[in-house]
Amino acid sequence: MNKKDLMEFLKNLKKTGQKISCLTSYDYPSARLLDEAGIDLILVGDSLGMVVLGHPDTTQVTLNDIQHHLKAVRRGATRSIVAADLPINTFDTVPKAVESSQILSAAGADMIKLEGALCPQIKAIVKEGIPVIAHLGMLCQQILIEKQYRIKGKTPEEAKRLLREAHEIQEAGASAVVLELVSPPVAQQITQELEIPTIGIGSGIHCDGQILVWTDLLGLQPWFRPSFVTPKADLASSIQKAVKEYINDVKTNHGE
Ligand code: KIV
Repeated sequence: MNKKDLMEFLKNLKKTGQKISCLTSYDYPSARLLDEAGIDLILVGDSLGMVVLGHPDTTQVTLNDIQHHLKAVRRGATRSIVAADLPINTFDTVPKAVESSQILSAAGADMIKLEGALCPQIKAIVKEGIPVIAHLGMLCQQILIEKQYRIKGKTPEEAKRLLREAHEIQEAGASAVVLELVSPPVAQQITQELEIPTIGIGSGIHCDGQILVWTDLLGLQPWFRPSFVTPKADLASSIQKAVKEYINDVKTNHGE
C-alpha cells in the first residue's frame, strides 16, 4: 500500500467502525509472528529502551537504535503497517524532524510517530509524503520532568487542552493519534470528535484501536506490568521452564 492509500485506509477503518489492533515489536521473530497472526499495525516504539535495552525509561533511545530494530521488524512484517517512533531529541526543530523521519522512512517505516502536539513538525513531515501518528496524553519522553506516569485529562483544564491539541494535530495532517493514559471519558470524547482514528493505551475501550507493548501482552517481563494490562500468556514462565529442563538435560547428560 502506498503512503497516501495508507492514510485513507486508516480513516476508512474508523468510518466503517472497524477497530485497529496494534502492538509494539522490536525484532524479526516477534514482528513475523505478529504479522502472521494478523495484527493491523506494528510500532517500533521507543519503549525499546526499557523492553529490549534495559534502560529505566525511553530517554536514552537514539535514532540509530530505532533504525536498527526497525530494519529487523520490516524484514519480519510483510503485511502489517509498520510505524516507528521518533526518539527524544530527534524532532525538536522542523528540519531535524523531517530529516529523522526520512531516515526512518528509508529504513522501512510506513508511518512515523512523534510525542506531543508539534503541529509545525507534523505538517512538514506530512508534506514530505510521510504519514504521521501523533501521540497525546502521557508523554513518556517527558518522564524525567514529570517524575511519574499518570492519567491525563482528569481536571477540566487538562481535558480541554487535550481536546484542543487533538483537533490541532488532526488539522496539521496527522493520520492517527495515540492516546496514552488519557482519562477514558476524555479519550471517548476525542474519539467521537476526530475524523482520524484514536489508538488507546490505558485510555479505556472507546478508542478506535488499541496498542500494547507486546511483552506486556504476553507476560514476558513479569518484573514490570502496567496496571491496565491483562496478559494473555505467561511466556516468562514457559521460557524459564524450558530453560530449566534444558539445564537439567545438559547436567545429567540427557540432551544436547
Ligand atoms: O514506545 C511505545 O511503545 C509507545 C506505545 C506505548 C504507544 O509509544
